[in-house]
Amino acid sequence: MTVNTEPIKNIEKYNESGRLTADKLNSALSEALKKIDANLESFKTSFPSHASVNNVYEHDDNSDGWNQGFWTGILWIAYELTGDEKYRVTAEAQLESYAERIEKRIGVNHHDMGFLYIPSCVAAYKLTGNEKAKKSALMAADALMERFHEKGGFIQAWGEIGAPENYRLIIDCLLNIPLLYWASEVTGDDKYEKAAYSHFNATAANILREDGSTYHTFYFDPETGVPVKGVTHQGKADNSCWARGQAWGIYGFMLTYMYTHDEKCLDLFKCVSNYFLNRLPKDYIPYWDMIFTDGDEEERDSSSAAIALCGLIEGAAALDEDDNDKKMYLNAVHKIMNSLIDNYSTKDCKESNGLLLHAVYAKPQGNGVDECNIWGDYFYMEALARLIKGNSFKGYW
Ligand code: GLY
Repeated sequence: MTVNTEPIKNIEKYNESGRLTADKLNSALSEALKKIDANLESFKTSFPSHASVNNVYEHDDNSDGWNQGFWTGILWIAYELTGDEKYRVTAEAQLESYAERIEKRIGVNHHDMGFLYIPSCVAAYKLTGNEKAKKSALMAADALMERFHEKGGFIQAWGEIGAPENYRLIIDCLLNIPLLYWASEVTGDDKYEKAAYSHFNATAANILREDGSTYHTFYFDPETGVPVKGVTHQGKADNSCWARGQAWGIYGFMLTYMYTHDEKCLDLFKCVSNYFLNRLPKDYIPYWDMIFTDGDEEERDSSSAAIALCGLIEGAAALDEDDNDKKMYLNAVHKIMNSLIDNYSTKDCKESNGLLLHAVYAKPQGNGVDECNIWGDYFYMEALARLIKGNSFKGYW
């Protein structure tokens, strides 16, 4: 794997000015909690839809898609930050739907077991020792293992297992493999972490381009496992860089670092982070594809910024004190979070039941464009928790 890390081109953009204060963070949290409290009344055992319509989430159930875990995860973070039992009670009321979904294999023929089961069931187990939630999450890990291919050494994201038209990995899966690392920790069986680490290596070796940008998806030959080509699904073009994919890389490489302490994760983190930071527009929030820049009439993806924030916080903490980039990444965290709070949060948007405005789910498919999305809200809450509680917030991944 060749990792060419761009230097930060406009270092002034990431200076120390305008640091977030504790007051500002706490006030952002209380604005978010007001929205969550209102949603507690309407979404009890139902779930917000993956993306809003006119900034309002509709009601969904837990039978399809990849997004339900984020609402349950928001409740767990709210519980951890406030100690208020109402959040725990509501999160726990949702756990049965996760158990049923994996036991009956409802809408789980895809790789998104980490997104579904980590912020919901792994969080429940880590925070409260809930054994049933642990069992559901382990069943989800077993389902994810079924999608691992020895030929290519990766986990297939979508479609019928082994189908040539879907014999590919996608960068998002870096957030699903922590379920496997966790499963090895709790069972003592290293088959899960071996698959996770193999998938990480297959991703690292193929998903990066020489300039530090990433493909969204990467195909392998089903007969030989030889890497074939990178192709987009949600980005603008096969040779452009989908902003949320880049953010999954920033956080995803750090999550494998957390479990493995493999130093090459830090090089990968710097590589994808610098590409991302070098292409942020003036207000520090990316357009939905990084091919676009200031002045382009395209939508932002605030969810990409929120995901990247969590990775940058983790990366800045992991780098050595004498690493010259450590402070710059932390400065970037403050710049991005300031902009999310001031310009993208729903604090002044009474009609919205989301937390972050102006995200994009899938522009080529015309789905959730310039709307709130539930993972943007989740990672915004996670970043707030990390900044408010520091190291004492361990997270669920
Ligand atoms: N994992 C799906 C997405 O990021 O849109």
